[in-house]
Amino acid sequence: MGLVLNIGSCLLLIVSKFYVSCETPTLYEYYTGDGIHSGLVGKSDQFTLNGKPFVIFGGSLHYFRLVPQYWRSTLLQYKAAGLNSIQLYLPWNLHEEVPEKFDFESPFLNLKLFLQEIQAADMFAIVRPGPYICAEWEFGGLPAWLLKDPNMRLRTNYKPYIDRVKNYWNRSLSIINQFQFTNGGPVIAFQIENEYFGSFWIEHSAEYLQLLYNITRNQGFRELIFTSDPGFIAQQLPIADIFPQNSSTYDVLESANLNMNSLESLLALKKLQPNRPLYVSEFWPGWFDSWHENFHHKYSVQQFEQEISDILFKANGSINFYMFFGGTNFGFMNGYRVVTSYDYDAPLSESGNYTEKYYKTREFYQKLVQIGKLPKTRLPDVPKARSTYSYGTILPVKMLSFESMLKHVDVYSKLSKPVPMEMLNRTSLYGQNFGFILYRVESKHPVQKYEVTGTINDRATLMVQCGTYKKAKVVIEDGQESFNETLTYSNETNTNHCQFDLLVENMGRFNDGVNMELQRKGILFGDIKLDEQTISNITIYSMDFTKTFLQKIDSDSTWTKSSTNPKLGNYFPTIYRAEMHINHIPQDTFLELPKWRKGNVFVNGFNIGRYWWVGPQKTLYIPGPLLKKGTNVIDIFELEQPGTELHFLDHAILE
Ligand SMILES: *[C@@H]1O[C@H](CO)[C@@H](O)[C@H](O)[C@H]1NC(C)=O
Ligand SMILES: *[C@@H]1O[C@H](CO)[C@@H](O)[C@H](O)[C@H]1NC(C)=O
Ligand SMILES: *[C@@H]1O[C@H](CO)[C@@H](O)[C@H](O)[C@H]1NC(C)=O
Ligand SMILES: *[C@@H]1O[C@H](CO)[C@@H](O)[C@H](O)[C@H]1NC(C)=O
Ligand SMILES: *[C@@H]1O[C@H](CO)[C@@H](O)[C@H](O)[C@H]1NC(C)=O
Ligand SMILES: *[C@@H]1O[C@H](CO)[C@@H](O)[C@H](O)[C@H]1NC(C)=O
Ligand SMILES: *[C@@H]1O[C@H](CO)[C@@H](O)[C@H](O)[C@H]1NC(C)=O
Ligand SMILES: *[C@@H]1O[C@H](CO)[C@@H](O)[C@H](O)[C@H]1NC(C)=O
Ligand SMILES: *[C@@H]1O[C@H](CO)[C@@H](O)[C@H](O)[C@H]1NC(C)=O
Repeated sequence: MGLVLNIGSCLLLIVSKFYVSCETPTLYEYYTGDGIHSGLVGKSDQFTLNGKPFVIFGGSLHYFRLVPQYWRSTLLQYKAAGLNSIQLYLPWNLHEEVPEKFDFESPFLNLKLFLQEIQAADMFAIVRPGPYICAEWEFGGLPAWLLKDPNMRLRTNYKPYIDRVKNYWNRSLSIINQFQFTNGGPVIAFQIENEYFGSFWIEHSAEYLQLLYNITRNQGFRELIFTSDPGFIAQQLPIADIFPQNSSTYDVLESANLNMNSLESLLALKKLQPNRPLYVSEFWPGWFDSWHENFHHKYSVQQFEQEISDILFKANGSINFYMFFGGTNFGFMNGYRVVTSYDYDAPLSESGNYTEKYYKTREFYQKLVQIGKLPKTRLPDVPKARSTYSYGTILPVKMLSFESMLKHVDVYSKLSKPVPMEMLNRTSLYGQNFGFILYRVESKHPVQKYEVTGTINDRATLMVQCGTYKKAKVVIEDGQESFNETLTYSNETNTNHCQFDLLVENMGRFNDGVNMELQRKGILFGDIKLDEQTISNITIYSMDFTKTFLQKIDSDSTWTKSSTNPKLGNYFPTIYRAEMHINHIPQDTFLELPKWRKGNVFVNGFNIGRYWWVGPQKTLYIPGPLLKKGTNVIDIFELEQPGTELHFLDHAILE
């Protein structure tokens, strides 16, 4: 038996043994202590959750951009900043990388586990399954295999597209639904589509959004549904035209994406949508970087404070930090031109270190509690930041030639025309999604001119071998164009075998923009010609650097000792291998590749991502859990010319 006294906000519990505890409730206890009657509601100026006033003070966290070993500790950092919810996108292109083969279990993709961790961290979840997510992510999260359909119309009510969405959402929602707030879980809201109204360049279809709404409801989701859009001041298509206010058929809240003129934008939104809470679902406390830019994007702490203050105290809105921690575009997962790091100049850095913005966020939380907008609930101390380590300099020891690599990839021979990677018949449903594609043609005598008509996406290297003649050249740096190359041979070349290889890199599909359907990669709508003759016997090698490929090259017998710097022009793309020995528990580190040019790095068979000397990013983040005690294998697929050293630093250089 005990006696319970309620003194102020503090619950005093006196049990029979005179043990006295004065406990602040957890967030979940505060909102659900007297049972669960209703979820998140946005029918007046302020949100309510289970009937109590609620302010969303949240942060985006993309589980697919963070090693799962760090999920829990990172969520704790969010919690310690005072954040009460986690906003998460779902990457369709990874959850269904191959049509009909769903993956919600592998590391990086275990959605159920991530939602459980959010609940264990005493936070709520706001899910954003897309289907299109933008996110500076390869193809905005859409599976590349959608493009195998030559008539595909993405983000529309085109039936084959909608059927695919239904099928994928059936799987996603069967997980999400179990975690709905009114089922005792953390999920309080669900976003349909992404920046749809704000994308002025797409043709808007009311029916498409209504279909997404209906699919969500028909598949059993009951919590709040919202959209997320930038640019209200100039918005051409008010949400009320598609989802009428006070409609009983469609109940949708529109939220805002911004990081300037916050008050003005929110007042514009208020006009479009009166009697509704204001929610900035994406407040950008920084920005992403793209290749060729000459600086790392920064957003000042001063503006950060000013805008947040306007959102929270002048507009009385809710906020979600996009990103609070950005993470990494591992593998081939960056959107077109986006660099590998997704540091975002966020309150937590790419390796989880604290920045000034983190502590400012915590101050905003304290202020919200002080003025009674947020309840005082139990909060952990700010955890210690992870440490990083400088593993020093190592050198490559072995190399594997381009020709050897080709033995381990899928080959499509005797094609009468070059096709882009998506059109290869891996099965009838899909071709190649990511990586590189090689087009090989041959001739029995030297030719003067090699030509490709049509379009090439994105970056192409031409490798020619004619007798003793051997040359490679990057013919398209970064673009989408046709090209022709006049080849000059030494007049001594006298051979009956010439080989012309065009290696095309898919640099990542645009995550946004007009005509996303034109994002097929490789040679599009064109031909390969030798001395004006169209070639109708083409061999395609699909170089997507799968796990299987990386395992196969391991046991290749043709690795040779690494040689020093071949001359630019004579160099064919090669894999260089270095080994790093670690004697203690591995820590996070940053790989700098001085004098290397362009390619991808693989650590113990994991694709860390792209590097490119053009910058601004100069180091690749390697999280400790991808390393191991003992010998670590570092493979570098270099396209142009290798450097001689690998430097492992204890800090990032994002420039
Ligand atoms: C959505 O469902 C409602 C019924 O709940 C129906 O009236 C409406 O036509 C559906 N919208 C679309 C685009 O199918
Ligand atoms: C998914 O589809 C199956 C089979 O039609 C159905 O039984 C199940 O209820 C669906 N789940 C959801 C969440 O829509
Ligand atoms: C919606 O309903 C509220 C209260 O029921 C009312 O004040 C408001 O004017 C209505 N809005 C529209 C657009 O009809
Ligand atoms: C926000 O709340 C404050 C105090 O409650 C009030 O004075 C102010 O008018 C509100 N702002 C808006 C835009 O509703
Ligand atoms: C983390 O940030 C602090 C403060 O900016 C800095 O002093 C420290 O060196 C950083 N640690 C790492 C590992 O980058
Ligand atoms: C793929 O298969 C289809 C149907 O058999 C065929 O029409 C098409 O030409 C094939 N494409 C390629 C690139 O082999
Ligand atoms: C080949 O490319 C050059 C420019 O690089 C262009 O001027 C020329 O017209 C092209 N020739 C053909 C046949 O496409
Ligand atoms: C080869 O070309 C060089 C100049 O390019 C010329 O001097 C030489 O005579 C040529 N040899 C033959 C066998 O044509
Ligand atoms: C097509 O090219 C391959 C080599 O690229 C060659 O082995 C084969 O004989 C050629 N087939 C025809 C029909 O020319």
